[in-house]
Amino acid sequence: MNDKFSKIGFILAVAGSAVGLGNAWKFPTLVGTNGGSAFIILYLLLTFLVSFVIFLGEISIGKLSGKDPVNAYKMLAPKNAKFWSLAGFCIVGSVLIFSFYSVIMGWILKYCVSSVYYLPTTVDESGAVFSALLTSDLGVILFYYTVSVLLTFWIVSKGIVGGIERLNVWMMPALFIFLVIMLLFSFSMSGFSESAKFMLKPDFSALNKDSVLAALGLAFFTLSLGVGTIITYAASLPDKTDILKSSLSIVFINILIGVMMGLIVFTFIFEFGADPKEQGPGLVFISLATLFSKLGIVGNIFAVMFFVSLFFAALTSAVSMIEPSALYLINTFKMSRKKALSVILAFVYIMGVLCIFSYQATTSEYLTFFGKSFFDCVDYFTSNILMPISGILIAIFVGYIMNKSSLEELFIPYTGEIGFKIWYILLRTVAPLAVAIIMINQIFFS
Ligand code: TRP
Repeated sequence: MNDKFSKIGFILAVAGSAVGLGNAWKFPTLVGTNGGSAFIILYLLLTFLVSFVIFLGEISIGKLSGKDPVNAYKMLAPKNAKFWSLAGFCIVGSVLIFSFYSVIMGWILKYCVSSVYYLPTTVDESGAVFSALLTSDLGVILFYYTVSVLLTFWIVSKGIVGGIERLNVWMMPALFIFLVIMLLFSFSMSGFSESAKFMLKPDFSALNKDSVLAALGLAFFTLSLGVGTIITYAASLPDKTDILKSSLSIVFINILIGVMMGLIVFTFIFEFGADPKEQGPGLVFISLATLFSKLGIVGNIFAVMFFVSLFFAALTSAVSMIEPSALYLINTFKMSRKKALSVILAFVYIMGVLCIFSYQATTSEYLTFFGKSFFDCVDYFTSNILMPISGILIAIFVGYIMNKSSLEELFIPYTGEIGFKIWYILLRTVAPLAVAIIMINQIFFS
């Protein structure tokens, strides 16, 4: 028997997995550059037509089997169990994402510490500091990376309830409180009204085909789909939980935190005249780090609070990347949790170090493949190939292979018959097609 989350523990743990770096540096920029709330509406629409549909599919696989993804597929497939258990190996994706996510956690942790006493004052200086960290300060980056990895594994070693739930029930509210404090502070700055306009004013003319694809990709990535995380957490879903209400709360929290992050980030960007089109690491580690310095000592406090929030968001996602494989090794090979985690740790640590070396000036040429660093290859392979394929397989498995009456029994008490029908039809048609389209587009046309 698995440990079971409490009801609120489940919501916060899944929300913790969903809320991550994507909310901080993908969501705000995409919203701002694609017509503000017009993009949010589009994103919501696609979330409900596609990613939420697959999300509920993952929930059903986890809840009905009570197992890790590989054994869940094996148990639920009426025939061809061996073949379907291969789909469960999407859990490799979560470990691969962890390999580079943990490196970014190392950068964030380094900025939490250094922002206490130092902030760069110009964009050039800031760029130089960040690039030195990536390309030459090997000792520093290895140190913060190792601390981040060990912290994540230490939490997962305490199990679902004693580790993952216990972390999320205080860290998610703490993250929210930090964001509220920073948001209140942003209100007092003149950049706030422009930031609110950028994030929220609807401009439907800014939407185009690329916005649709970006919104789909984002909706998929931010709900942590396709790598076994949701299946694994749902295996510990407590009985008699209102699945629909809990899942809707998770989607709501995910969007709310993305909007709050965006309002805060863009207040600074507009207040000090930086480039609102920047996204990803450049936005956070170069632009923002410089802008904070304009506030003097208050800026240091603000910067520390901001990077700590980012670290919290990343850590609650990171633990959810390790648990699926841990549960698989425990269930299949009857390993103790400690032993399972040692095996995974050895693998991800080496992968992470390779990611780090692939950015270091002295070693990068040995770790570049197809014109991409090893770091970017792992990211590309998981986000553009593994996750979408697994998303399509989930939709097909739940929509065509799994026993329909067990699904009805699971969902109808919460969704009603009509809700169930709509979900089932979307799962069999729109959802897998949409994911296939994003995948083809990302591989061949971008
Ligand atoms: N949802 C996370 C974010 O927005 C990233 C993520 C993608 C993830 N896939 C995942 C987290 C799988 C945990 C597990 O940053």
